[in-house]
Amino acid sequence: MRHLLDFEGWTEDDVRAIFETARAMKEVLARPIKTVPTLKGRTVATVFFEPSTRTKTSFELAAKRLSADVVSFSGQASSLKKGESYQDTLKTLAAYGVDAFVIRADAAGVPHQATRWVDAAILNAGDGWRAHPSQALLDAFTLEEAIGPLRGKKIAIVGDILHSRVARSNAELLAILGAEVWFAGPPPLLPRHPFFGARVTARLEEALKDADAVMALRIQRERISGGLLASEEDYRAGYQITEDRLALAAPGAPLLHPGPMNRDVEIEGTLADGPRSLVLAQVANGQAIRMAILYHLLVGGGS
Ligand code: CP
Repeated sequence: MRHLLDFEGWTEDDVRAIFETARAMKEVLARPIKTVPTLKGRTVATVFFEPSTRTKTSFELAAKRLSADVVSFSGQASSLKKGESYQDTLKTLAAYGVDAFVIRADAAGVPHQATRWVDAAILNAGDGWRAHPSQALLDAFTLEEAIGPLRGKKIAIVGDILHSRVARSNAELLAILGAEVWFAGPPPLLPRHPFFGARVTARLEEALKDADAVMALRIQRERISGGLLASEEDYRAGYQITEDRLALAAPGAPLLHPGPMNRDVEIEGTLADGPRSLVLAQVANGQAIRMAILYHLLVGGGS
């Protein structure tokens, strides 16, 4: 594995190898001293052309826990503002001797292009609507901790599916793990063409019925053009995950959200903070999963 762009060509064994390493990384993170020398002398650059809290922070912490040097680049405070291109930005940073670039971009395909621009491992931290593979890995890892192996399990993913790279990467990864994925949301926010075998419905109850887990996705206000969503009140009325709606799922089914959450929109606030919510477990697991990804890309883990 040289890059992490999406899950094309991945097998279940590849996913299991990452999960096994992530479990070892969780043991490291449980120690009083949470640092190991695995990547000493290596350099990881986080290059975010789009905002992020969780992905950027956790990749940077993951690299530091492994003793790598970290270069933290944010588009807003850079020479991009003077007109420099993505390509020249990456080539400039690569000249400092970067071993891995963690890249988030507003446009689909930028991480793929980066593999031709620089000689380094490329990790896709989210490209446009297309893919967010490290998020899907941490989601599936967190799900398996909660409900066991995902083969044959029904996972309901609810919300703005159309604009969601998380939905796409989750569908791709959950298919590899043998889960049955249901997408639900308002018709204008559903994909025109189903992907990775996921079932698509505008009827929330159909997706939630007996689901083993429910994941709510953010309404991506920044990507929604005029008229696609009537109002947030309409969304809440039809698709917000509430106690009553979650009761349609299997008893005790956990609730996930990749964040950032529009509080009290996608999920009823009390539920998001309640015992069935895995939101903060997802955040915490993000660090261990990203340590595992960096390990497999820069050291090699047999995957
Ligand atoms: N889930 C996720 O990608 O969050 P950030 O945008 O905060 O990184």
